[in-house]
Amino acid sequence: MCGIFGYTGKKEAQPLVIQGLKQLEYRGYDSSGIAMQNGSNAIRVVKTYGKIKNLEEILNKQPLKGTTAVGHTRWATHGTPSKENAHPHLDKENQIAVVHNGIIENYFDLKKTLQEEGVRFRSETDTEVIVHLVAKYYKGNLENAVRRALRDVHGTYAIAVITSAEPGKIVAAKLDSPLVIGKGENENYVASDVSAILEYTNQVIYLENGEVVTLMRDSCEITNLAGKPISRQPVKINWDVTQAKKGGFPHYMLKEIFEQPGILTAILKERVRGYEIHFDELKIPAAALKKVKRIVIIACGTAYHAGLVGKYIFEEFTDIPVWVDTSSEFRYRDPKVGPDTLVIAISQSGETADTLAGVREAKRKKALTLTICNVLGSSLSREAKGVIYTHAGPEIAVASTKAYTAQLAVLYLLGLYLSQNFKTMKESARRELLKEFLHVPQLMRSFLDEYKRDEKNWEKNAHDFNVRYHEQLDKYYSADPDKRKRAPNGFFLYLGRNINYPNAIEGALKLKEISYIPAEGYPSGEMKHGPIALIDENPWVICIAPESKTYDKMISNIQEIKARSGYIVPIVTEGNEDIQRLNPAYVIEIPRVSEIFSPLLTVLPLQLLAYCVANEFGEDIDQPRNLAKSVTVE
Ligand code: F6R
Repeated sequence: MCGIFGYTGKKEAQPLVIQGLKQLEYRGYDSSGIAMQNGSNAIRVVKTYGKIKNLEEILNKQPLKGTTAVGHTRWATHGTPSKENAHPHLDKENQIAVVHNGIIENYFDLKKTLQEEGVRFRSETDTEVIVHLVAKYYKGNLENAVRRALRDVHGTYAIAVITSAEPGKIVAAKLDSPLVIGKGENENYVASDVSAILEYTNQVIYLENGEVVTLMRDSCEITNLAGKPISRQPVKINWDVTQAKKGGFPHYMLKEIFEQPGILTAILKERVRGYEIHFDELKIPAAALKKVKRIVIIACGTAYHAGLVGKYIFEEFTDIPVWVDTSSEFRYRDPKVGPDTLVIAISQSGETADTLAGVREAKRKKALTLTICNVLGSSLSREAKGVIYTHAGPEIAVASTKAYTAQLAVLYLLGLYLSQNFKTMKESARRELLKEFLHVPQLMRSFLDEYKRDEKNWEKNAHDFNVRYHEQLDKYYSADPDKRKRAPNGFFLYLGRNINYPNAIEGALKLKEISYIPAEGYPSGEMKHGPIALIDENPWVICIAPESKTYDKMISNIQEIKARSGYIVPIVTEGNEDIQRLNPAYVIEIPRVSEIFSPLLTVLPLQLLAYCVANEFGEDIDQPRNLAKSVTVE
C-alpha cells in the first residue's frame, strides 16, 4: 500500500527516486510524484495520475535538479486516484513536502481543526493533514516539528518529509508501516522496502515503531517521539540485486515461478543437516515447543492457503491439532488461544496489517507466537517471539508464487522438526520422508523444463480458451435480447481434495487476480452440495487429481462433471492411463511424488495456467489492477 523513496547525497536525486519508485511500484501504482529541494525557498513537486512511467515522461521533458528528494507511488485509500490526491503533499507556503504510507484515522477531526485555523486543503487525502501539522509546528527544526505533529496523529504511517528551509535533510518516521534506511557513502536513502535500495547499498537500518530519523548525506540520527536518541547498527542484507530484476523473463511472475526449484534447494540445504532439521534463527527453545498442545495458523491470501496446507502437514507429522484462520477474522473474534497454543503467522512481506494485529492479539492472550516470513527485519519478524525466514529473495510480482512454495517448504520442515522433537513418528519413517523431500526440487525443475519444451502448447490452450470465451459471449450478445436467458458461465472452477484442496483455492486466486476472470476453488467433495449446479459446457473445470488416497473419489467427481457436459482439465500423475477415458479437454501431467508433497508439484501448472491466460488476455501480469503487494492497511 504505497511506496516511499527518498535520497539525500551528492548525486542528482531525480533518476534515483524514479528508479526507486519503479522498484516499489508493486506496492501501488495509481499515481505517483516527487518533491525536490532545489536551493530555492520553495519545494518543487511534480505528480501525476497513473504509473511511474507517466511521471518519468513528464520529468524527462522538465527535469528537476537537486540532490535531496522524496517520491511516492500510491495505492488509494482516502480519495480517488488522481493528480490532486497523488503525493507528495505540500503545506500552504510550498516549503514542506510529505509522502506517506498508511492511514491517519483521526484525519477528519484534524482537518476540521486545521480548516478552522485557516488552512485550505488541496486534496481529499488523509495525508494532507500531516504536512499542515508539520507546518503549524515548524520553528526552524524539521525533526522537532515532525515529532510534535505525530503526537496529534492516530493511525499508521511511514512518512518522509523535506523542507526548503533545511537543505540536504530528510526526516522520516514510522508507526506500523514499513520503513528502511539505506546507509551509503556520503549518501543516505529511505524506502518502504529494501529491494528499492539494494542497488546502492546493502547496509540497512529497519526503523522501529515510534522512531524518527534525520538523514543528511553524511549522518543518520534516530530518536524516539520524545526526542531521545537511539543507537542502532545497520544490518547487512544478503539478497542479490539481480534477484530483484527480470533476468530475461518477460514478467517477474514467470521469473519467480521458475526460481522455485532453486529456492527450495537452498532452503533444504540451509535447514537440513544429516537427518536433522535446524532453524537457527527460531529463538523458541525446543522445551517451549514441547508445551504446545495446539497450533493456530493465521495469514491472508496466498499465505493463508499455505497455512491450510500446513494443517494437513502438521496433523500428518505430529499429533497436535491445528486450526487455520484468516488473520482478519482471527483478530476480531475472541480466539481461544493461550499459553499452550503456538500461533504461527505466515506472511511474505511480514507487514500485512491484519496478520500483525493477529499476532498482537495472540501475544495479549499469552500464546507462543512464531512467524514464517520472507522479509528480513520486517514488522512481523520483530513482533513474533520466534521467526523462520523463507529466504525466497524479493518477490516483485504482485501475484505470489515463489513465496508460497517457500512457505510450504518451511511448513514441511517445521512439521518434520516438531515430529523429531515430539517423537510422533518412527525415526525411520521421518528419514524416509526427509529423503523424498530432498528430491522434490528436482521434480519441480523437471516439470518446469517440460513446460518450456511445451510452451507453445500452453499458449495455444490459453488462446483456445480466449476464443471459446469470446464465442460464448458473442453468441449470448448476438441473440435476440428477448430470448437471452442468462450470460454463459465463462469461468474457471478448481477442484481438489485433501492436501490438494488448498491448491484449488490458490489456483483460483492466481487466475482471478491477474486475469480478472471469475474463478472458484472448491473441495471436490462439496460439489454435490451446491456448485455442481453451475456446470454446463462452459466453465473450465481444473481437477487436481494426482495419485493419492482420494484419487478414486476424485475420478468419480470428474465423471459427475463430465456427465453434465463439463469441460475438464485434469492434473494427474505422469503415466496415468485412465484419465483419457474421460475425454478431457487436455491433460497436465506432474512427476510422481507422494501425496503429502504433491502440492509443491500441483501448484506449478496452476501458476502457469493463470500466467498464460492473463498473458493471452494481454493483462498487466505483474501489477494487476486494484491490488498492491503488501497490505499494510486493514
Ligand atoms: C496473492 C497475494 C496475496 C498475499 C496476501 C498476504 O497472490 O499475493 O493474497 O498472499 O496479501 O500477503 P503477505 O504474505 O505479505 O502477508
